[in-house]
Amino acid sequence: MKLLEEKILAEGKALNEDILKVDSFINHKVDAELMMAIGQDFAEHFKDQGVTKVVTIESSGIAPAVMTAYCMQIPLVIMKKQPSKILNKNLLQTEVASFTKGTSYELTISAEQISEDDHVLIIDDFLANGEAATGAIRLLRMAHATVAGLGILIEKSFQPGREKLMDQGIHVYSLARIAKLGENLIEFVEE
Ligand code: G4P
Repeated sequence: MKLLEEKILAEGKALNEDILKVDSFINHKVDAELMMAIGQDFAEHFKDQGVTKVVTIESSGIAPAVMTAYCMQIPLVIMKKQPSKILNKNLLQTEVASFTKGTSYELTISAEQISEDDHVLIIDDFLANGEAATGAIRLLRMAHATVAGLGILIEKSFQPGREKLMDQGIHVYSLARIAKLGENLIEFVEE
């Protein structure tokens, strides 16, 4: 997606060879207009897949996911990283390890919000090692739902996430695919 690639080049900062900082439009301040364009792009791409719900993982996936759900006129369900004290009935949980942050968390969803009739589009901001998306897929399968695909804003193609998900038969659609990061260097995959 040209618009997102231009924004990454204009405002993204490669902190090192692994991490791209995008705090000024995705992770901290949010560019709502860009998020709407992203939602429209995902809605167009997945329009014939029979998607019944959009799912994301809190927190940075929420903005693009809500726009996608709005454009597709279907609900959004947000997977939590810890069980809430009020949300405690029929919980499905799975542990997800984050290589980037060196932590792990219990990804959680209420079985009341997803059913076996659901065909789910997962949306997230980054695809790195694919652990978060794999955890989300595990939870959806625990709920007996099916996965329509995965929509990603920024894929770090030099990390193994895409292969890991494609090996599980998941259709991965990324709006910006980064081939290389370095000091003053952001290179996209040539398509
Ligand atoms: P994975 O799910 O693909 O395996 O990725 P990983 O666990 O390594 O990533 C953990 C967290 O780090 C995720 O955010 C992910 O979005 C973020 N992340 C990974 N690579 C980058 C990067 O290059 N730049 C930025 N800005 N973030 C990156 P999270 O913990 O879920 O946080 P949030 O959604 O609350 O922001």
